[in-house]
Amino acid sequence: MRSDADRSTPPFELEEALRASDERFRLLVAGVRDYAIFLLDTEGNVSSWNEGAQRIKQYTEEEILGRHFSIFYPRAEIDSRKPWRELEIAVAEGSFEEEGWRLRKDGRRFWASVVITALHGPEGELAGFAKVTRDLTERRRNQRRLDALRRREMLKLREHARRMSDLETAKSDFLRLASHELRGPLTVIRGFTTMLAEGTLGELCEDARRAVAIVLAKSDEANAIVDQLLETARIEEGRLTLRRERTDLRDLVGATAERLRPLLSARHRLVVDLPDAPALVDIDRERLRTVLGNLLDNALKYSPDGGLIRCTVRDESESGQVTVDVTDEGIGIGADEMPRLFTRFGRLVNARNSHIPGTGLGLHLSRELVRRHGGELTATSEPGVGTRFHLLLPRAHGS
Ligand SMILES: Nc1ncnc2c1ncn2[C@@H]1O[C@H](COP(=O)(O)OP(=O)(O)OP(=O)(O)O)[C@@H](O)[C@H]1O
Ligand SMILES: [Mg+2]
Repeated sequence: MRSDADRSTPPFELEEALRASDERFRLLVAGVRDYAIFLLDTEGNVSSWNEGAQRIKQYTEEEILGRHFSIFYPRAEIDSRKPWRELEIAVAEGSFEEEGWRLRKDGRRFWASVVITALHGPEGELAGFAKVTRDLTERRRNQRRLDALRRREMLKLREHARRMSDLETAKSDFLRLASHELRGPLTVIRGFTTMLAEGTLGELCEDARRAVAIVLAKSDEANAIVDQLLETARIEEGRLTLRRERTDLRDLVGATAERLRPLLSARHRLVVDLPDAPALVDIDRERLRTVLGNLLDNALKYSPDGGLIRCTVRDESESGQVTVDVTDEGIGIGADEMPRLFTRFGRLVNARNSHIPGTGLGLHLSRELVRRHGGELTATSEPGVGTRFHLLLPRAHGS
């Protein structure tokens, strides 16, 4: 491979040298060390030599003058008449250029960049050839080293990608297995705890009743997590089917927000803004309840010092979309954390939220569910100021 730098004319006036008489040519190129520059007669015998030629090819002027230039070529190329063919091409096309192996006097090969130019006399008759050769062995060696290095890097990257994909598969398998396996025992725990709470298994003392109430609440939490895991596994396996029903989003948002109210602290305020007219969408209500529940749950969880949580439904009739904004005045999300916000298990643990529990599945699942509905879920946030989630759904056809 040749770069433009390789092709650049040598640092002397080659053109001028080629036009000059033999004697002036010899003077002009004699001291050039980086290039072997010499003349051949019409047969290809060496008729002039310079310092660079001696340095690269190791022959002295006396040794080489009058010898045929094929002496610089490996045996196989002489056998295939390559040197003679090169001269023929130079005659036919004006010059011949290539990179290839050549031999030094001691038999060691070097990687050469070669240009052979046909020279013509005053009547246009062939007068001989000028040959410029550059030793690129070192450059080629470095290039090869670089190529090898690059190849090794590629292999490492490929291996890394394979391991990542294995890990992803393992995560999916784990997700499916864990959720299925947990569901059974959790159902049993919940069943017996409910019986204990209701006194079916005998009266409990006050302390036991309190303990059972906590176990019940915690098993509900565990159930919710297992549900999320199962939903995520379903999405990953392409097994999720929506049960769409025409729904007024005002009802769904209103009801879900009301479920949050008992959990608010005295420092929190919840405001729900609904439009006057119905905001009709064709949605899987259970799934959308999960999405809204998670957005509201996050708004509350991640504003530990309180503040306003606002849930606004808008019917954007011009664009044919219905939107829901959930905003809070909580800890916010750093710009550097944003790219991981919707990723699976994408908990953004930092000093501000490390004490707040969660699995990091909620937003991933929410966005996937919204997208299955043909909608989109996005977020904007400013750390210390608050966060806004923007949910967009297509309006029901014909509404
Ligand atoms: N309203 C918000 N304000 C600040 N950070 C948020 C907000 N919502 C989400 N985050 C950040 O995004 C991360 C991912 O949210 P997500 O709902 O997916 O997970 P989670 O709430 O940690 O767990 P899960 O919802 O599965 O119980 C959270 O861990 C949190 O760091
Ligand atoms: Mg969450």
